[in-house]
Amino acid sequence: MRWNLPPSELPTTWFNVLPHLAGQLEPPLHPATRQPVGPDDLAPLFPMALIAQEVSTEPSIEIPGEVLDVLRLWRPTPLIRATRLENALGTPARIYYKDESVSPAGSHKPNTAVPQAYYNKAEGVKRLSTETGAGQWGSALCLASTFFGLECKVYMVRASFQQKPYRRVLMETWGGNVVPSPVDKPDHPGSLGAAISDAVRDAAGRADTHYSLGSVLNHVLLHQTVIGQEAKTQLALAGEDHPDVVIGCCGGGSNLGGISLPFVPDKGVRLLAVEPTSCPTLTGGRFEYDFGDTAGLTPLLPMYTLGHDFVPPSIHAGGLRYHGDAPVISALVRSGRMEAVAYPQSKTFEAAVMWARTQGTVPAPETGHAIKAVIDEALAAKEEGKEKVILFNYSGHGLLDLSAYDDFLHDRLPD
Ligand SMILES: Cc1ncc(COP(=O)(O)O)c(C=O)c1O
Repeated sequence: MRWNLPPSELPTTWFNVLPHLAGQLEPPLHPATRQPVGPDDLAPLFPMALIAQEVSTEPSIEIPGEVLDVLRLWRPTPLIRATRLENALGTPARIYYKDESVSPAGSHKPNTAVPQAYYNKAEGVKRLSTETGAGQWGSALCLASTFFGLECKVYMVRASFQQKPYRRVLMETWGGNVVPSPVDKPDHPGSLGAAISDAVRDAAGRADTHYSLGSVLNHVLLHQTVIGQEAKTQLALAGEDHPDVVIGCCGGGSNLGGISLPFVPDKGVRLLAVEPTSCPTLTGGRFEYDFGDTAGLTPLLPMYTLGHDFVPPSIHAGGLRYHGDAPVISALVRSGRMEAVAYPQSKTFEAAVMWARTQGTVPAPETGHAIKAVIDEALAAKEEGKEKVILFNYSGHGLLDLSAYDDFLHDRLPD
């Protein structure tokens, strides 16, 4: 069963969670002075429109028409009930998912890549630099850059660059220029933190270039809220009053924020973040100010972190290998509004394969983390004999991650 919305039902505003977090979010600090950063500090890297969104306290922010025109190529995305998985689990829970894998890049990432490219173009920028882990964010930004006539340079975490050559080909097909990171350490597997340093250095060194981040920052989570807003409308069409729990995997927190932030004000809705045990930021990190990148070039953010020099093992869910979390997600977890759980990668691949054998589609390894938590919630509902409405974000497909499935299916996958 699926609930599709017509293009006219695409949200025309983003949901801003910041007014709901009053007093809970500390400002980013300048890396040199440790004083709160101002717009001028950020201007070499980001367009003013995004800097304004980063601190806006308006309850909603209008989505520009040119952005809507591009998003309408695949949005609204379907809400689908996973009845075959429910049946296989024998659960009384009703499991719904937002299928963000239907975007051209195969994930939720274009929801923010498109507005970021738009605002940069509007302010006269010619070229964007960015990092990518699994390659999903890099593909999304190359796609968006090609729509708005921008050049795009992508620093790809070396472990993924080697594991996932087809992601590179996809980025190049959309006109991007991709290099492995760290650029100065050819034997290093890399990390998102190091790739961010490479991309920030690139943008800071060229007047025609801005930097673009695929997760973590307030404006990125803001752009993703089309997901949760659509889901609310679609759940109502499915006859559901509200979900009992909303689940998303968490790397930097953007797909999780996208589906869950519109539910923050709603009573009786649990929010659940899912992360890898090998990079357990929310479940094992410290809440403190830390750099967003390895080299310490970015502002310090108030977040759960494993330390900016933490290099996570080369797990296949490359998009979850980040040492920190979005300040918004960190604040929600810290206040107890959001829960967090961690799983080893073998359990997440078991869940992903169960999904493929019941629902048919092959999830991204990151999405497999959310699916594992969904299965556990559904089994808990069975144990308790409770009907429960579970909503989760199917953040991406895994059709370019088949080498990871190959390793799992042939016992080559370490935890
Ligand atoms: C399919 C998919 N899901 C989830 C993530 C994690 O990122 P975030 O926490 O920003 O959603 C990524 C990141 O690359 C991804 O590609």
